Amino acid sequence: MSWQQRIHQAVQQRKADNLWRQRINVGSPQSARILVDGQPLLNFSSNDYLGLAQQTEPLIDAAKAWGMGSGASHLVCGHSSAHQQLEQALAESVGYPRALLFSNGYMANLAVLQTLLRRQDHLYQDKLNHASLIDGGLISSAKMHRYRHNDGAHLLHFLKQHQKSAPESLVTASSGSLNEQTVSSLSLVATDAVFSMDGDQANLADLATICQQHQALLMIDDAHGFAVLGNSAHTGSHAKQGLTAEQVPIYMGTLGKGLGGYGAFIAGSEELIEYLIQFARPYIYTTAIPAALASAMQTNLEVVMTGKRQALLASNIDYFRQQAQHLALNIMPSSTAIQPLLIGDDAKAVAISQQLKQQGILVTAIRPPTVAKGSARLRITLTANHTEKDIDFLLTSLVSILESGYGV
Ligand SMILES: Cc1ncc(COP(=O)(O)O)c(C=O)c1O
Repeated sequence: MSWQQRIHQAVQQRKADNLWRQRINVGSPQSARILVDGQPLLNFSSNDYLGLAQQTEPLIDAAKAWGMGSGASHLVCGHSSAHQQLEQALAESVGYPRALLFSNGYMANLAVLQTLLRRQDHLYQDKLNHASLIDGGLISSAKMHRYRHNDGAHLLHFLKQHQKSAPESLVTASSGSLNEQTVSSLSLVATDAVFSMDGDQANLADLATICQQHQALLMIDDAHGFAVLGNSAHTGSHAKQGLTAEQVPIYMGTLGKGLGGYGAFIAGSEELIEYLIQFARPYIYTTAIPAALASAMQTNLEVVMTGKRQALLASNIDYFRQQAQHLALNIMPSSTAIQPLLIGDDAKAVAISQQLKQQGILVTAIRPPTVAKGSARLRITLTANHTEKDIDFLLTSLVSILESGYGV
């Protein structure tokens, strides 16, 4: 088979499977209302949960001070005082000793897993974890196990099974002779804190206890919880669930969702962060995010730490769930901004999404391989910028489309 045939076959197969993906062209800033190919749409698809992505002043002001590009990687000359200050503010916001900026969440997850894990180690992941955690596990040389979604007992079963087995022997070559040495096998548990396609949350207290009892390191990916969830002192899913930095030693947050910009960070102990600076390839070998962006992200962080926007979002979530229940819509159980409607069939999910678009509403249909086969869904996301009228319009449109023959 030639390269051309391989590519052609894959493309044709994707179309035949009804899984063909197409990008839309957005012609306006992200907000509750956007222009798509010239058509105004009510946007229920973005992760801009707090409605900050459309802000311009923080970035314009910062660009005047810092210019466009960072010029180099952090370890060369790309690390500015704007990056440094943002790292400090991020660490404080989540209640950790230190934070380290990354270009995005995908790279931050790859960095932690690739750098920490060795061949003899075990990595345990929730079945519904984000692709970047799975890919991080794949590029690490560790043995990866995926426990059933939110099933602590299944994780426990895996941990007990592996920790009972004998330590591994590693044959190494030194000074021309082969040595056999016993290597210690370490365990790491990684989970999304808020599951991106389902909107439900990991039981972090349960996982923290299991990890503590089995000397496993716990890492959470809080892409959808950072800046959005929290308590009066700190932001993040761990804070929301009453856990401390000691109980969740590795925290990953992204700046492209709740904070409305771009970038990500790992928070952890002083030593973990120094270790990543020394050894994490996705940190070392890439250009730092623009200093202007880092500065603008700090401004947005100050805004979100007042908690006002989260209160608006929470009220929208409550209203949406109440009304959806009233209309007997089959919304998945979730108390976060992600409120998916399970459809099942791929073609049906796409057809409903297209009909919503005709009525002026953008809700993306999510299909395999992003979600499991037979579980295609409309991933509805709410933001602080939606009004109750917007939500009413979405729900009544959905009901009329479903009643017209697309019933679930
Ligand atoms: C759970 C989760 N982790 C990580 C990422 C990756 O973050 P980023 O978009 O910053 O690469 C995303 C989304 O994109 C996500 O939903």
